[in-house]
Amino acid sequence: MSFYLVTTSTIRLVGDSLFQDAVKAGMASVSELSATLGERIGQESADAFYERLLQAARSGGGRLLVVDMDGKVQADTCDARWGTRLALAEVHTLLRGEKESDYGFHQIKDGQTQQASSVFDPLTGRDISRTWVGCFASALVSDGRRVGALVMITSVQDTVDSLTSMQDRMLGIFGIALAVVLVLAGFISRIVTRPVAELSAGIERMSKGDYSRRVHVPGKGEMAQLAAAFNQMSEQVHNLDEARNQFVSNASHELKTPLATIKILVESMIYQDDMPPELRAEFLTDIDKEIDRLSSVVGDLLTLVHIDSHKLRLRREMMVFADTVRESVKRLQPLAKKRGQEISMEITDPCEMFADPGKLAQVCYNIVENAIKYTPDGGKITVRLRRMGRDAVLDISDTGVGIPEEDLAHVFDRFYRVDKARSRETGGTGLGLSIVQQIVRLHAGSVTVQSVRGEGTTFTVQLPVK
Ligand SMILES: Nc1ncnc2c1ncn2[C@@H]1O[C@H](COP(=O)(O)OP(=O)(O)OP(=O)(O)O)[C@@H](O)[C@H]1O
Ligand SMILES: [Mg+2]
Repeated sequence: MSFYLVTTSTIRLVGDSLFQDAVKAGMASVSELSATLGERIGQESADAFYERLLQAARSGGGRLLVVDMDGKVQADTCDARWGTRLALAEVHTLLRGEKESDYGFHQIKDGQTQQASSVFDPLTGRDISRTWVGCFASALVSDGRRVGALVMITSVQDTVDSLTSMQDRMLGIFGIALAVVLVLAGFISRIVTRPVAELSAGIERMSKGDYSRRVHVPGKGEMAQLAAAFNQMSEQVHNLDEARNQFVSNASHELKTPLATIKILVESMIYQDDMPPELRAEFLTDIDKEIDRLSSVVGDLLTLVHIDSHKLRLRREMMVFADTVRESVKRLQPLAKKRGQEISMEITDPCEMFADPGKLAQVCYNIVENAIKYTPDGGKITVRLRRMGRDAVLDISDTGVGIPEEDLAHVFDRFYRVDKARSRETGGTGLGLSIVQQIVRLHAGSVTVQSVRGEGTTFTVQLPVK
């Protein structure tokens, strides 16, 4: 639009300035001519006067007409108009005495003049058979009396033609520019919108639950960064979704097994009326064990969910970590004794700290319980507590089965058990160590594991002493 406006107004400006030049030149020569001719009227013969007029017309390159006060043509260098009335507005203003000189532009078609609506109107339909002329009129004064008017008619067709061709060229350029702009705009908008479309398709897929697909936006621009961030987010959501599904399915599985066992035991008791009392007592003991297992799994799950939802708050107090360790070991001594295992303790520092004693007791208990569970009868378990700089370091080593290297990275994962069958026997759910890890992390500490298969395992808990 702006290019169109610039084009048309430029043509108009150039046209006006060209016509102004033509007007100046025409008016100057017709005024000069009328002044010299005016003096001659009545002083020389009509023929001589006409001859002078012809000469002036030839040297001036235009057509000259002399009009009397009635508007009648008294002389015409082209012979055509003798005796006729010249119906030109600029001549009449002159004869009425309103002006000394005047001009006008006309389009001549088939010999008829037509008033032009404007000097030049760009972008209107043009008729080639028409010719543009400029009429310049100046009053003829003889002896101080206005006797008529001198009219000079010159062709301005050249000016109009050059303007027309300029207009054509500019319109051509305008058309090309418009096409280029449109093509570029289309191109750029596609470049700009393609990544947006790609992203919105990705978001739509994600909203429908498909987290596996990634969006591809090449380059390093903001859209590419956005796409990378989106991909990262969708991967995280994907992982979370999978972890959640895995968690739910594992949890259900863990709950299903004891429930199934309880059902079988209860059913056998229902349908076997004549069940010996000893067997009935044994069944009831088994049911009791399964219920314990169920409640321990549910307890562990609740603890994890609590930690995950950031609702778990540590009840910190000044505590002696050495006492907590001793207490946990004491609680597990009977279990170790039953398996002929020896637990030795090396505590070199009380490790006083500001922490949650209940939670840290759970950490010790879980690790020592594992050491007992995964160490054959008669094995040895060592619990060492020492200070190392600003940290309390607790090592729990055993001479048990060990953990294969490929499993080491996973033992802290939820429901992860190295040997599923073996753990089932010992009643493990695979939640103990993940709870340990979460609690230690809440205390801004770390827990690591080292193990040699068949030789033993060492868990190391490092906690800052505040
Ligand atoms: N001291 C250890 N020696 C050998 N393997 C171990 C030891 N501690 C843990 N593991 C392995 O790591 C797995 C995960 O331990 P974790 O304590 O998380 O679960 P769990 O003991 O099986 O069940 P629970 O939820 O009852 O603790 C265990 O199943 C076991 O295979
Ligand atoms: Mg355990």
